[in-house]
Amino acid sequence: MSANDLKRQAAEVALSMVEPGMKLGLGTGSTAAAFVDLLGAKVKQGLDVLCVPTSEATRAQAAALGIPLTTLDEEPFLDLTVDGADEIDQELRLIKGGGGALLREKIVATASDRMIVIADATKLVDTLGRFPLPIEVVPFGLGATLSMIEMLTRDCGVEGELVVRKLASGEPFKTDSGNLIVDAHYSVIDDPEMLDEALKMVPGVVENGLFIGIADVAIVAGAEGVKVIEATYEGDDEEYA
Ligand code: A5P
Repeated sequence: MSANDLKRQAAEVALSMVEPGMKLGLGTGSTAAAFVDLLGAKVKQGLDVLCVPTSEATRAQAAALGIPLTTLDEEPFLDLTVDGADEIDQELRLIKGGGGALLREKIVATASDRMIVIADATKLVDTLGRFPLPIEVVPFGLGATLSMIEMLTRDCGVEGELVVRKLASGEPFKTDSGNLIVDAHYSVIDDPEMLDEALKMVPGVVENGLFIGIADVAIVAGAEGVKVIEATYEGDDEEYA
C-alpha cells in the first residue's frame, strides 16, 4: 500500500470521529490535506461543520471544496483539530512544522477541545529529533536569536546545526505570519519538555515545533492496520480500528 493510501486510511478513521455541528481545526500538510478532501466530500453530502484552517494553503483547499470557514476571532473555541505530524513518540509528543505552519497549527490545536493526529506509520518514533525541529523566529535580530538558541539548548544537552529554511530559489522561506523557520538538526531530543522550555526563553523565537501534551489521539496507518493511540499521559492505551 502506498504512503498516500495509508494517509488516506488514517484520514478516513479521523473523519468517522467528526460529528455534525462540530467546529473543526483543519491541519496542514499532505496527510491533513487527505482529511480535508474527505471532509469536503461529506460537506457536499450535507455534513454541517464550521472550520478554521491552520494555513493559507489549507484555507484555499477547504474553500475550493465548499467547506464553511471561520476564524478564531469569531469562534475562539473549537471541538476538534485534525492534523498531521512529522514525528510522533509513544507519549504522543510531536514534532510539527515540516510545512512551516507550526505557529497557526499550535494556536488552532490548543484552542480545540481535542486534537487528533493522523499519520502513516513512518512517523512513529521512539525518540524525537531525527526530523529537524522547526523553530519559527522573527526576522529581526536573527544572528542574536540563533546564538541564544545555541547557548540555551547546549545548556540542556542538545546540540545540532541550525539551518535557516530556504525556498528552491534561494530566498528565505516565509511563514504565513511573515516569519522565518530555523530547522534545528538535533538528531536526538532526550528531554523535549526541557528543550521546549529553553526555546521559550529566546525572545526572537515565536514558537517551536514541539507539541507536548496537546495531542489526544494518534491515528497511525501501517501495513498491519490502523492503530489508534489514546494519550492518557499516564500510560499507553492502544487499540486497532
Ligand atoms: C505542517 O507545518 C506540518 O506540521 C505537517 O502537519 C507535517 O509536516 C506533516 O506533513 P505531512 O502530512 O505532509 O507529512
